[in-house]
Amino acid sequence: MAQLCLSLTGKTLEEDLRTLELYRSRVDLAELRADCLDPREFFHLRSFPELAGIPTILTVRRRSDGGFFADGEGTRLVAFAKGLAFASRDRRLNFAYLDIERDFRIPALEEASRTFGTRIIRSQYCPDGLPDNPEGLWAELSRDPFEIPKLIVNIKSMEEGRKYLEFMDKLPGSEHITLGTGEYGFWTRILTARTGSLINYTTRTEASNPINTQGQISPETCDSVYRWRKIRKDYSLYGILGGPAVLGSLSPALHNAGFAALGLPAVYIPFPSDSLEAFWDLADRLGLKGFTITVPFREKVLPFLAERSPEVEVIGACNTAVRTASGWSGFNTDALGFERSLLGFLKVKDLRGIRTAVIGAGGSARAVAYVLHKLGAEACVINRSLIKARKLAELHGFQWSGINERALELLETHNDLIIQTTTVGMAGGPPGDPLEWYEFSGREAFLDIIYNPLETPAMRRARAAGCRVTNGIGMFRAQGAVQFELFTGKEYPYLPFGGQS
Ligand code: ATR
Repeated sequence: MAQLCLSLTGKTLEEDLRTLELYRSRVDLAELRADCLDPREFFHLRSFPELAGIPTILTVRRRSDGGFFADGEGTRLVAFAKGLAFASRDRRLNFAYLDIERDFRIPALEEASRTFGTRIIRSQYCPDGLPDNPEGLWAELSRDPFEIPKLIVNIKSMEEGRKYLEFMDKLPGSEHITLGTGEYGFWTRILTARTGSLINYTTRTEASNPINTQGQISPETCDSVYRWRKIRKDYSLYGILGGPAVLGSLSPALHNAGFAALGLPAVYIPFPSDSLEAFWDLADRLGLKGFTITVPFREKVLPFLAERSPEVEVIGACNTAVRTASGWSGFNTDALGFERSLLGFLKVKDLRGIRTAVIGAGGSARAVAYVLHKLGAEACVINRSLIKARKLAELHGFQWSGINERALELLETHNDLIIQTTTVGMAGGPPGDPLEWYEFSGREAFLDIIYNPLETPAMRRARAAGCRVTNGIGMFRAQGAVQFELFTGKEYPYLPFGGQS
C-alpha cells in the first residue's frame, strides 16, 4: 500500500512543523527538505523526527538535482551524518529514511543507516526528461536490495509520459518510487496504484491554485478530489484531455464526487497534453474507458473517432469520448447539457415562439445554435467576426449580423431569450461587457454561459434591469451529468441548476 508523503520546504524547522500540522491527519510520512532550510537550522536537524511525530525522510537535494543545497559534498555528508547521529532504540525518534542520490556512495553512511534501521532511498532526478537508457540507470539504483530505488522524471511532453509508463510497466514488483513531475506527469501522482510507487509526494499549495505548475498537489486535493487512498489497480479510469489549463478544470471534482456518491470503483484525472497521438497511445496503455475533451482538441479529435453522434456531426466538435467494442465513440454533451439546463431555466419543453439571440459564433455558440434549432427557436447570431456569424447562422437558417446597427435591430426583435457565448467577461478572457451597446428592458431571459466569474458585467446589468438571469454553472453541471451517464450508464447522483435567479 503506497504512502502519502508531505514534502516540507520551509526555511525553518518551526515553519515545517506548522505546515505539517495543516495536513497531519492526511499523510503517512513527512520529507524534510533540509536543502531548503536556513543553514543555522542544521544544528537542530536531528530533533526533527521526534518533533514531527510521524515517520520522516531526510533529503538534502543539490542544485544540480533540482534542490537548493549550494555547499560542497563534504558539508552535505555532515548533514546526513547529523541525521543519523545519536540513534535511539526507539526507531520512531530516528529518521525513517535517508534520500541519497545515486552518485553519493558513502559506505560508512550506508553501514550506519543499516545498523540503525534507517532505510536508504537511492534516488535520481532527471530534470531533462526520461534518460536514453532508463533500464541501465534503474539497474544502478536498485543494486543494493536494502535500498529503495527512486526515479523522478521531469515529463516534458505527453509522448515522454507514455514512454515513462512503458518503462514503469516493466519494473519488477519490488519496492520502488517512480513519479513524473511537471504538468504532463500529473497523472503519475494519482495513479500510483498503477505505477506501483511506494511513496507519493505532496506539498502545501495555494487554495487558489490547488495544482501548481509542477503538477504538485496538496494532501487535501489528493484525498478530497481524487480519493487517492481508495484507488486500486483495477479501477476504471476516466479523464479530461486538453491544454495545460485542464489542471484547473472543475470536471475532476464533479466526476469523482459522482463516483464516490455511487460507490463506483473509478477515478477521473486531468491529462494536459501536447499531442493527440501520444495521448491516444497513453489512453490505450492505461486502459482509459472514457474522457472529456476540451480546448484545443475538440475539433482535432474527430479523425480519431470510430463513431460520432449526430450532435458531433452537425456542431463539428466533440467533447466526450467513450470506449466501445468498435473503438472510440464521440459525443457532444455541451449541446445535450445546454439543452437540459436551458429547458430547466425557462421551465419549458421546447423553444417554439421564443425569439432568441446568440451572442458569439465560436465553439460554444455552435453547440448552443444546434440546440436552439433542434428546439424550434427563431434565432439570430450576432458576432464580431461577420464570416463566422454568417456561417453558423446559415447552417441553421437563422438571421445574422456583425456588431453594428443591424445587430441592435435584430436584438430588439429577438430578445425573449439572449444567450451570451463569447469569452468576453470570463476570467482569463477579454474584460468587459459584450452587450454594452444594448439596453436591457427587463423582460428578457438572459443566459451567460460563463461561470467564472459567477456574475459577469452583462449579467449584472441584466439583473439590475429586472431580467431573469442565469450563469453557465447549470450548463456545466448538466453537461457533466450527461457525460457521467455516458461513462457509467448511471444517472449522476445530483443535478442542481445553480446560479439562476
Ligand atoms: P469558445 O469555444 O469558448 O466558444 P472560441 O471558439 O474561441 O471559444 O470563440 C470565442 C468567441 O468569443 C467568438 O465568438 C469570438 O468572436 P470572433 O469570432 O469575432 O473572434 C468572441 N470574442 C472573443 N474576444 C472578443 C472580443 N474582445 N470582443 C467580441 N467578441 C469576442
